[in-house]
Amino acid sequence: MNETRRTILERIGDGPVSGPDLAADLEISRAAVWKHIEGLRDAEFDIESGPNGYELVAVDAYNGPAVEYGLEAPFSIEYHDSVGSTNERARALAVEGRADVAVLADEQTGGRGRLEREWASPSGGVWVSVVTRPEISPSRAPLFTLAASVATARAAREASVDARIKWPNDVVVPVGESGEYRKLAGALTEMEGETDRIEWLVVGVGINANLDQEALPDGATSIREEAGDVDRRRFVQRLLEEFDRYRNDLEGVVSAWRELTLTLGQRVRVDRPAGEVIGEAVDVTGNGALVVESDDERVVVSAGDCE
Ligand code: BTN
Repeated sequence: MNETRRTILERIGDGPVSGPDLAADLEISRAAVWKHIEGLRDAEFDIESGPNGYELVAVDAYNGPAVEYGLEAPFSIEYHDSVGSTNERARALAVEGRADVAVLADEQTGGRGRLEREWASPSGGVWVSVVTRPEISPSRAPLFTLAASVATARAAREASVDARIKWPNDVVVPVGESGEYRKLAGALTEMEGETDRIEWLVVGVGINANLDQEALPDGATSIREEAGDVDRRRFVQRLLEEFDRYRNDLEGVVSAWRELTLTLGQRVRVDRPAGEVIGEAVDVTGNGALVVESDDERVVVSAGDCE
């Protein structure tokens, strides 16, 4: 959103301000003020004009300017009603050299999960991918997946969902005391770089937000099913704010993750490229890898699928 529109929203968000006052404050013409107000209305900001001037009465929309407005994290938002995959689009932006942009879509027609799986992404979910360019070595990249999972779980908990994390990237909701759980969200991290330096990272998160059970794959749940519909604009803002906080505090990610995980202390079976590991998940390392203790050895697993 451009600076003038941001300033207009800030001014008219606290009560009515007249067109002439806005024009004088911003040093633009009254016609230009009117054009900006119309532009903001086109972006679905609910702006009333009364005897005392313009007033922002509500922000209910789910689009780029609405998510940027009030967002306390330095991301610009590229919004699509429908896109193939937000990760694909974010990768293209990363290759162009962009940073700190979040690609957001109401629907994905080719959503991708880990291990080349399809990711069902109908309208009503939250499908978002962030481009970031951290100055870290690739061995620390898993921390960004943990940061995304922590941010997602925390945003979901604020929406009254008992969200927990299953290593490495699943946000799940326990089914009572049964020991079972249903999947609420997942994260897919992709990167480009050299052995000692990351060039860019794309962290994509998919959250089953305002979706009915019939729209979900087996074993999944949604915020709607658990707690009723969520305000997706506010939800994405909280997710991005928490992600920003943890990407700037990688030391804090692991302890935040430990507080929310279901994996530690559990017997796990991890499928990884080098073969299967079965044992107890006893810890995560400072780089976000899982430490599994089997009968005769301790194995550090930095990628895999955990059951
Ligand atoms: C998983 O397998 O658990 C990860 C799922 C990640 C899905 C998200 S939805 C937004 C982004 N775009 C994609 O195509 N995938 C990720």
